Amino acid sequence: MSTVKLMPPFGVDIDLAEGVMADPDRHLVRKASAMLGHYQDADALARLIAAGDPLHYEVFEKNVPEERGQVMFCISKLEPGDVGGECFMTKGHYHTVRETAEVYLCLRGRGFMALKTADGQCLLEPMERNRLVYVPPLWAHRSINTGSEPLISFCAYPGDAGHNYGDIESEGFPKRVFTRNGKIAVV
Ligand code: F6R
Ligand code: ZN
Repeated sequence: MSTVKLMPPFGVDIDLAEGVMADPDRHLVRKASAMLGHYQDADALARLIAAGDPLHYEVFEKNVPEERGQVMFCISKLEPGDVGGECFMTKGHYHTVRETAEVYLCLRGRGFMALKTADGQCLLEPMERNRLVYVPPLWAHRSINTGSEPLISFCAYPGDAGHNYGDIESEGFPKRVFTRNGKIAVV
């Protein structure tokens, strides 16, 4: 028997160009100081934090019950910039329920989705306007902004997926993306 409760349908207004959801229930803001331990150059990150701790990325969400059968969705907006040459990126995570997938529809900007498995496979999928990246179950994922404007995506994933940040904090991603003299370098 289903445990899903009846709830009212709803609509959401989204400014696709600016990457802003009108009237979100949750607006997550991560500044540079939320990224400790994620960039190769810790001193460069410390300097950025000391220089005003700028906005790194935002996530806009509506309240959807975090349970099987629901679809969570959000707008993810990652600012352009670099930390010691390494392109701004999100923290990245596995889903707590690792058997859950996600779609990212890129609305604006340019970059990569870095994807990795627990056994060490790592891929970079290009992200640009009108491109959808499918994140299969079992793949951790992080977005990386290589451009000069915000990298904005609409994301949708199962309601019971959850977020596991701890494993990425300890494992990291095998690939890093740098911008050097206007060129992108993957290391
Ligand atoms: C949800 C998802 C995205 C990210 C967002 C911020 O499962 O993958 O909505 O949550 O891009 O990135 P994180 O969560 O890694 O800080
Ligand atoms: Zn996710």
